[in-house]
Amino acid sequence: MVYSKSIAEIMRQRFSCRRYFEKPFEEERRERLVGFLSANGSGPLGSSARFHLFTATDKDRDSLKGLGTYGVIRGATGFIVGAVRHSKKNLEDYGYLMERAILFATDMGLGTCWLGGTFTRSRFAKKISAASTEIIPAVASIGYPAERGRFEGTMRQLVGADNRLPWGSLFFLKKFGNSLPPDEAEAYAEPLAMVRIGPSASNKQPWRIVKDGNMWHFYMQRTKGYGNSLTFKLLRLADLQRVDMGIAMSHFELTAGELGMKGTWALQEPDIAKPDSLTEYTVSWVG
Ligand SMILES: Cc1cc2nc3c(=O)[nH]c(=O)nc-3n(C[C@H](O)[C@H](O)[C@H](O)COP(=O)(O)O)c2cc1C
Repeated sequence: MVYSKSIAEIMRQRFSCRRYFEKPFEEERRERLVGFLSANGSGPLGSSARFHLFTATDKDRDSLKGLGTYGVIRGATGFIVGAVRHSKKNLEDYGYLMERAILFATDMGLGTCWLGGTFTRSRFAKKISAASTEIIPAVASIGYPAERGRFEGTMRQLVGADNRLPWGSLFFLKKFGNSLPPDEAEAYAEPLAMVRIGPSASNKQPWRIVKDGNMWHFYMQRTKGYGNSLTFKLLRLADLQRVDMGIAMSHFELTAGELGMKGTWALQEPDIAKPDSLTEYTVSWVG
């Protein structure tokens, strides 16, 4: 067993931690996380990514100081940095794989925060010696969580971090607009609940899921101006809402697996009318 306790409990425990004690990693935890990362390189949609853990040691406390996080993160003694090559579903795979690592770290009592915007991409790229064919969609800070202070509270309020969209506007039966009655979800109620509490860029929660028989179709409903706007293209920013979709996939699959429900991912877009031009098909879970 990879995780030491119920995966749903770990998902409920996770939050974006932005303040850490400046305490170096214990060797044993570092090694366990490194071991996990080295076996966590192939995504369910065919891309492979490589992840590295960079930590400050007692002797070299300043080794991470040059990695910019715009003051949003304080005291992190580590970063998980990953790189992935261009491919059709690379960002979804990246989100899926990184979130599994984040949950593993959470299980070890560590605090983490996904960083997709507030980090200096070029410095992290140098640190991981990224090839020109690789991108670093996002990174994660990691360390021992400090008490949540006023900064943390303000930051959480700004993005409404404790709010989540209601079940009825995320999950549907057969077609969009037709909310999935909770009893129709049956054993999948818990995997869906875990998708709902997942982290997402700016807490926009782009995931929408339509159930049809034993199929669960995942769609991304983009936030206007996010991801595919001209600014994003010009600045070559990663399409973070696709990363969010990978996070949703990992929460769904891990929770279903723990409950003994088997299934596979398939790229099989159904003939379901999409509500608007911001909505795109991602993937289906065949249960
Ligand atoms: C792909 C991704 C990118 C994110 N980028 C940032 C970031 O650049 N800076 C930041 O402070 N938080 C970032 N976050 C954290 C989100 O703001 C956070 O997940 C959301 O507000 C929900 O709060 P919670 O994680 O505490 O549940 C990111 C999250 C995700 C999934």
